Amino acid sequence: MNPIHPGLQPLARAAARGDFEELEETLAVALARPAWLRPEHRIGDPKAYMRHLLYVDPADRFVITAITWLPGQASPVHGHQVWCLYGIAEGMLTEEQFGQDLKPLKASSYEPGQMADRDLDCSVIHRVSNRSSRPLVSLHLYGVQPENLTTGINRIYA
Ligand SMILES: [Fe+2]
Repeated sequence: MNPIHPGLQPLARAAARGDFEELEETLAVALARPAWLRPEHRIGDPKAYMRHLLYVDPADRFVITAITWLPGQASPVHGHQVWCLYGIAEGMLTEEQFGQDLKPLKASSYEPGQMADRDLDCSVIHRVSNRSSRPLVSLHLYGVQPENLTTGINRIYA
C-alpha cells in the first residue's frame, strides 16, 4: 500500500491538513496527469464497480482510492457518511444527483481531468455510472477510517 505514488503525495498532504481548497487543486493536477494510474486499474470486475486502495493515511483520517467502472456499471443511489471528493482520470462518468426526497435534481457528465461536485458535509445524494462503451477510472478521497472502508462510506437508498 504505502509508500504513496509521488503524483498523489500533494493530495495526501492537503487531506492530512484538512485543507479542502488545496485538496481540490492537487486533485485537479493528479487527474490531469494520472501517472499514478497502473494498468491493473483499467481492469474492472464484471460483477460490480471495483475499488483499488491507493493510499491509507497513517493516522487513519482518509483513504485515496481509484474506482474502475466497466461499461454499464453504476453505484446504487447513495449519500455519504464521510466527506468525499472525486474526479475522472480516464473515460466518461455520469452523475445523477437527487434531493432528500430522492427526486432527481440534475445529471452531469464528466470527462478526464474534471472533478465532480465535492461532498464535504454529507449532503449529496447521487448515483454514479459509466454509460459509455469504454472502462472508466475515477479517483476518490474519502474521510473514512480504513477499517470502515466497505461499510463506512455510503448510505444506500436504492
Ligand atoms: Fe458517492
